[in-house]
Amino acid sequence: MHVIVTGGAGFIGSHVAVEFLRDGHDVTVFDSLTRPGVERNLEWLESRAPTGRLGFVRGDVRDADLVRSLVGARGVDLVFHFAAQFRTEDQGWVAHFMLTAAARRPLTIYGNGKQARDLLFVEDLVRAFRLAARHIDKTAGNVYNVGGGPANSVSIWHELRPRLERFAAGAIAAQIQGWRPGDQPVYVSDTRKAYRDFGWKPRVGLDEGLRRLWGWALELTDGRAQLAISRQPNPLELTMPQADIAFAGPSA
Ligand SMILES: NC(=O)c1ccc[n+]([C@@H]2O[C@H](COP(=O)([O-])OP(=O)(O)OC[C@H]3O[C@@H](n4cnc5c(N)ncnc54)[C@H](O)[C@@H]3O)[C@@H](O)[C@H]2O)c1
Repeated sequence: MHVIVTGGAGFIGSHVAVEFLRDGHDVTVFDSLTRPGVERNLEWLESRAPTGRLGFVRGDVRDADLVRSLVGARGVDLVFHFAAQFRTEDQGWVAHFMLTAAARRPLTIYGNGKQARDLLFVEDLVRAFRLAARHIDKTAGNVYNVGGGPANSVSIWHELRPRLERFAAGAIAAQIQGWRPGDQPVYVSDTRKAYRDFGWKPRVGLDEGLRRLWGWALELTDGRAQLAISRQPNPLELTMPQADIAFAGPSA
């Protein structure tokens, strides 16, 4: 199978790409590399790709001719579209908390720390995309919430703090600041439609995901506290309303 991943050098795209490479497929990453640091994700991907399996095209998804020539090429089976300029502060916050705590730096918490979020391990997200593609007859044209759901929800400081402090084996300093305009008190995904239509639900539980993310944060901060989050794709992310995914059927 030949898979094209737009935004394939980004956080989600690089994880999707690596899974298909791992299964022996050909992957073309199409990315403008406009997000600072994503070249490192590309290097990470290249280091894992079997020879000749990974292609890279640097370009902009707004370039219709280029997109048409890539996607319309003979032998393309699947296209994942993740290219976007837009990231919210809510994306990647758990990784930020972990890196900051691992580097023994103080955190800033906005609101009262009781805001609830559901967390999803990126492996589970990739599995959702793959299952949805496998069930394209059912999923084409549909929109699905994909996230950790109620079982993998946590309040961003009240409940996360004791876990972080256990990992760090010590107190973590935090400065509590006021609410920011637009701060959302609760976001928890209802993923029942994805389960019903293509049998997906998260497998990596909250605590296991956090443990794995802590391992990643420790590896990155070991002796080198000042690190860019994008140094290598981080394995846990927050789902937000924008995480809804839509599927288009195969193009004619
Ligand atoms: N990561 C999350 O938790 C999360 C949650 C909800 C929604 N999303 C959405 O999913 C998408 C992907 O997220 P991500 O975390 O992988 O983002 P990311 O910023 O890590 O990756 C986006 C990639 O797209 C590339 N890109 C940007 N504009 C482009 C363009 N015009 N043409 C070609 N490439 C371009 C960037 O260089 C980058 O490599 C985004 O739309 C994001 O808003 C992400």
